[in-house]
Amino acid sequence: MAVPFLDSGAHEGPADYLLILRRNIALDGDLMLARRELEAFFQTPVQNVETIHEGIMEGADGAGIQQFIPFDSCVRPEGVIGFRVSGPPALLPRLIRQVSFIQQILCVLPEHGGGRAWVEDLRREVGEVIVTREAEGKLVVSALPHYLLFELSEAVVRASSDGNEVRRKLQQLTDALLGHTADREAVALAQAVLISCRSTSPPLHGLHYFKAKFFPRMARSLINIGTGACEGERRILDSFAGSGTTLVEAATLGHDGVGVDVDPLAALISTAKLDLMGMESGFLEEEAENAILRLSCKAKVLNQTPPDAAMLFPEWMMRNRRMTGELAGSLASEIGALRCVVEGSAPEARNLLRVLMSDAICRKIRMRFLGTGVGRFSLTVGSRPLSRMFLQSLSHAAKAAAAGEWLRENLRLNPAPGQALVGDARRLPDRIGAFDLILTSPPYLPASSGRESYAKAHAPSLIALGMKDAGSVDALADGCMGAMEGDEPDFMELLQRERDAVEWLARDGLRRPKAGPTARYFLDMRRAFEEMHRALKPSARAVVVSGKQSTFYTFSTREPLYVVPCAEILAEEAEAAGFVLEALHDVQLQKANRNARPRSLDDYFETLIMLRKAGE
Ligand SMILES: C[S@@+](CC[C@H](N)C(=O)[O-])C[C@H]1O[C@@H](n2cnc3c(N)ncnc32)[C@H](O)[C@@H]1O
Repeated sequence: MAVPFLDSGAHEGPADYLLILRRNIALDGDLMLARRELEAFFQTPVQNVETIHEGIMEGADGAGIQQFIPFDSCVRPEGVIGFRVSGPPALLPRLIRQVSFIQQILCVLPEHGGGRAWVEDLRREVGEVIVTREAEGKLVVSALPHYLLFELSEAVVRASSDGNEVRRKLQQLTDALLGHTADREAVALAQAVLISCRSTSPPLHGLHYFKAKFFPRMARSLINIGTGACEGERRILDSFAGSGTTLVEAATLGHDGVGVDVDPLAALISTAKLDLMGMESGFLEEEAENAILRLSCKAKVLNQTPPDAAMLFPEWMMRNRRMTGELAGSLASEIGALRCVVEGSAPEARNLLRVLMSDAICRKIRMRFLGTGVGRFSLTVGSRPLSRMFLQSLSHAAKAAAAGEWLRENLRLNPAPGQALVGDARRLPDRIGAFDLILTSPPYLPASSGRESYAKAHAPSLIALGMKDAGSVDALADGCMGAMEGDEPDFMELLQRERDAVEWLARDGLRRPKAGPTARYFLDMRRAFEEMHRALKPSARAVVVSGKQSTFYTFSTREPLYVVPCAEILAEEAEAAGFVLEALHDVQLQKANRNARPRSLDDYFETLIMLRKAGE
């Protein structure tokens, strides 16, 4: 919806903008994305601001502006706190709806004739997230970007016991952030959530445990950058959609997202997230009560004959020494009870409940593949009962739905639908159509060639959900990029750097099993790039996120032995498929997990491979 006053050009000349960053931006890569995103909106460079004082716009009443920043203690403690730029006033509603890294937008309009009508129109469009003040003949608008509230709603959901409390707290929080209230509880809540580093993810994204997910705000900013921060619906494809981060962010930005993943569980997770965006919290609260009831009359649920463990767990899992017959039997009866609850749920809730059951199973039964290319894995089984994990997640989902309702109503949101398909990125479905942007992240090189198999790590869930059986679940891993099993790759087709890496692996006694799958990985990625190129409209962009490099270490001293420049190789493959390489941006990631890989606390970078299809 347009803002008539702004569109009519009643504000002559550009407005001055100050955009204050979220405090919890710690890494240079995020700062780079925040800057590039704003430059996509303004189509001009933005200027760094390091203190609030520096940010105060010339000509506007400094003290007046300072009063607009009730939480200036919650800005970034060091370095850049935000950006200044001049731009059209008409950009303001789009900035409020779309930006990803910003905590507060201040906009000083050149003159305010007719301003009241304009402010009312703006409010109607973006909701109650603005306050205005007149200073020295200018109209100053302070706005909370929608994404700030999406992100902060996660902390509110965690701190609330039910949907009513979620709604009350979200209102309190918004009032405090806008400076509408001095209520101690509200102000304390606002300060706590702004200062917290934890919450960077709107609640939907955490529905299911999933390795190597996008950081949601990174995905959102890349959608904005990749579409030129356009207004209006665009078609966006993620051909390795995983848990659907791109699809959810595209939907909240009003774009039509399509996801493809070879793993049916990934497609189900994405679908459940998209469904939950429009679900009523009251309905889910009822589902949660029914589930508690059904699980509490255990006799009824457990009287069903529990599934046979051999049907639920593949044979390679049963061979693990931790998987005793007794443990397998008790897991099978826990899973059987949950399955009864899910199957008895309302059909509209069933996708969501299936995903929550799968999440509980994945968190309880954890497998980590050891990276030697021979399928060895460690298995840990948590002690918390599956039913308790499931019920807690269901209650969290009902609260997330309440947050979604509040946000839709109060921010006038109208999420676009999206769809997740089971398919292969190397052979996209014929009738998938043409896209304005691809944003995707394939499995990284270390994730292929036996180190970690997404499909295998999900095996018990896939079987419990009836998507695969114990005999066929491994075939799913064979459909993934760089599978352990498959046709003999033609080494002569490899690029020089690919061949160097494969030959090095083949010469290393312990790593020899990885050579074939690594060759297969590069050739699979070649086909995936050809398909991406085919699916894009002329002049449209693709952003592919990959690990920057993959390092092989000596097992004893952990000294680096050989480095594969994965992102550069993938960029070369993309160019060979017809893409123009626009840029490679390295983005540092925070790695907290000491056990993830050798020297896992070394600086770790992902690379954004920015591509464009040539115009016609
Ligand atoms: C790095 S994950 C993507 C994570 C995603 N960006 C997210 O935010 O959840 C890679 C995904 O690629 C999928 N995949 C592997 N091989 C594939 C293939 N041949 N076609 C489509 N998807 C595939 C895996 O199942 C996995 O879900």
